[in-house]
Amino acid sequence: VREELGSLHGIPLYKSFVEGWPQVEAFQARLDDLLIATYPKSGTTWLSEILDMIYHDGDVEKCRRDAIFNRVPFLEMKAPELPSGVDLLDKTPSPRLVKTHLPVQLLPTSFWDKGCKVIYMARNPKDVVVSYYYFYQMAKMHPDPGTLGEFLETFMAGKAAYGSWYEHVRGWWEKKQEKQLLYLFYEDMKKDPRREVQKILQFLGKKVSEETVERILHHTSFQEMKKNPAANYETMPTNLMDHSLSPFLRKGISGDWKNHFTVAQNERFDQHYRQHMAGSDLHFQMEV
Ligand code: A3P
Repeated sequence: VREELGSLHGIPLYKSFVEGWPQVEAFQARLDDLLIATYPKSGTTWLSEILDMIYHDGDVEKCRRDAIFNRVPFLEMKAPELPSGVDLLDKTPSPRLVKTHLPVQLLPTSFWDKGCKVIYMARNPKDVVVSYYYFYQMAKMHPDPGTLGEFLETFMAGKAAYGSWYEHVRGWWEKKQEKQLLYLFYEDMKKDPRREVQKILQFLGKKVSEETVERILHHTSFQEMKKNPAANYETMPTNLMDHSLSPFLRKGISGDWKNHFTVAQNERFDQHYRQHMAGSDLHFQMEV
């Protein structure tokens, strides 16, 4: 199923998603939808599981009712023989959790018109690119990534699926000034998940018991999610995701890029990063 990416308003994207775009653009959000927005490989699934647990008051069994990609539908998803994200969302009872990787300028306007809350999660680009490299290998809708060195160039040039990481994280960061948007970092979640879960609860205006927070933290730990078929994507058809090439829940750490980048690649990446983040007050922790 590997094929070259298409283009959506200048953003590289899977051709099937581009074909499904008219339906996505016209999507009607509901007032109580909560949007989970991320650049790929930034902890989307982790944040989704945490939110589904919060929405079900920490009931682990309820959160095993279906695979994460059905519990938290992927807005712009369209693939042959699978229901589209929009079709799934139409059938999902409120209050819905909605996942998207769209850059801020492409989000269907209905989310803004309805004043929906948004939680964005960002991850440092060095770990994102390594995670994405393995994901390109196991998720067969991607073109062949080549060597890591080649994929680094693809990523820095903004030619990986969903385009420039820099524009993505900066675009959503700026939106934070005017909208109900909680901006989180993967590295903070690794360092102190309890504090980040409390932030989310406060943002949602929800109160839960200490015991429930404890259950949420346990159930959404890397080890628990990795063995949970409702969270680890193992129920996806193998022709789309081949976990024998690389598991979806791969390492779940910060700083794995150090095991992959050469010194020269790191220097080149740092220089590119400085250029593209210049003038921004958005800062990333490259390890924790
Ligand atoms: P790695 O490939 O570095 O392991 P997304 O869900 O946005 O596709 O992101 C996937 C990345 O998040 C993978 O990173 C995956 O292992 C990591 N991840 C998923 N669940 C996690 C958890 N509970 N704790 C830490 N990392 C997690």
